[in-house]
Amino acid sequence: MAATIIDGTQVAAQMREELKREVAALRAKGIVPGLGVILVGQDPASASYVSAKEQACAEAGIYSDDNRLPAVTSQAELIALVERMNQDPRIHGILVQLPLPKHIDEDAVIGTIRPEKDVDGFTPINVGRLVIGQQCFMPCTPHGVVQLLARSGVQIDGAHVVVVGRSNIVGKPVANMLLQKQKNANATVTICHTGTRDMASFTRQADILIVAAGRPNTITADMVKEGAAVIDVGVNRIEDATRKSGFRLVGDVDFEGVKAKASLITPVPGGVGPMTITMLMVNTVESAKRHAAR
Ligand code: GUN
Repeated sequence: MAATIIDGTQVAAQMREELKREVAALRAKGIVPGLGVILVGQDPASASYVSAKEQACAEAGIYSDDNRLPAVTSQAELIALVERMNQDPRIHGILVQLPLPKHIDEDAVIGTIRPEKDVDGFTPINVGRLVIGQQCFMPCTPHGVVQLLARSGVQIDGAHVVVVGRSNIVGKPVANMLLQKQKNANATVTICHTGTRDMASFTRQADILIVAAGRPNTITADMVKEGAAVIDVGVNRIEDATRKSGFRLVGDVDFEGVKAKASLITPVPGGVGPMTITMLMVNTVESAKRHAAR
C-alpha cells in the first residue's frame, strides 16, 4: 500500500481561516483575544517556533504581547512577568516557550500560570483535568494530532493506538486524550518508551502509530502494520551541506520506507508542526470566549 500523505499545512490553513472569521466576530463584540508570549534565551529552534506563533496570531487578528528575554534572566524576573500577565485583562493565554535555561525551574514557572490562561495545558491543574475528563486546555501538539486524525477520517473509536514516547508535552497527554470515553477518542492505548523491551512487537499491533521519540529513524517499515495511520511528531535537525542553512528537518519515522506500508502518514515538515501553532490559537480564542462568558 502507498500511503496518502496528510497535508498538515493545508488542514492548518483551513482551520486558521475558520478561526479568523471567529476572531472577527468576537472583535465586533469588543472581545480581542490576546496571547502573552515569553521566550528566554537564543535557542534557534525555539526562536523560530515563537516567531511563527507571533506571525500566526497577527494573521488571525489575535493580539500578542511578545517578550524575548536574555538567557541570563533570573527565575524571579520570569515569574514576575508571568504574574503581570496573569493580571493583564488583555491577555487570555500565556505561552512560556520550553525548554527554559538550566538555571530556571520550569515547574515553578509553569506552576505560576493561572490555569484559566494556561493555553499550553501544561499546569498540573489542566493536566489533572485532562486525565479525569474535565473541561481543560489540551496541550497544542497532541490536540493537533487528534484534529489531524479526525479531519483525515481516521477511525479512532476502538482502534489500537500505540504512542512511542512518554514526554509531558506529547506522549502522556496524547495517550490520555485518546483513551477518554468521548468523540474522537475511545481507543485502546499502549505507550512505549526507552524502557520498553521489543518495541516492534507493540508498534506492529498499531492501527494508529503516534511517534514522539525525538530521534530520527526510531520507526522503520518492519515495525509498522500494513495499512496503519502513522503520525510523526518528531522534529530533528540533521546536517545537510546542500542546504543554505546547513541542516534539514526530519521526523522520527523513516518516511520513505514507512510510506510504502502505511495507509496514511504525516510528513516532516508540513505534518503536525503547523497544527501545533493552530491549536495554540484555537485555545487562546477559546480562553477569550470563556473569559467573556464569566
Ligand atoms: N516546546 C516544544 N513544544 C512546546 C509547546 O507546545 N509549548 C511550549 N510552551 N513550549 C514548547
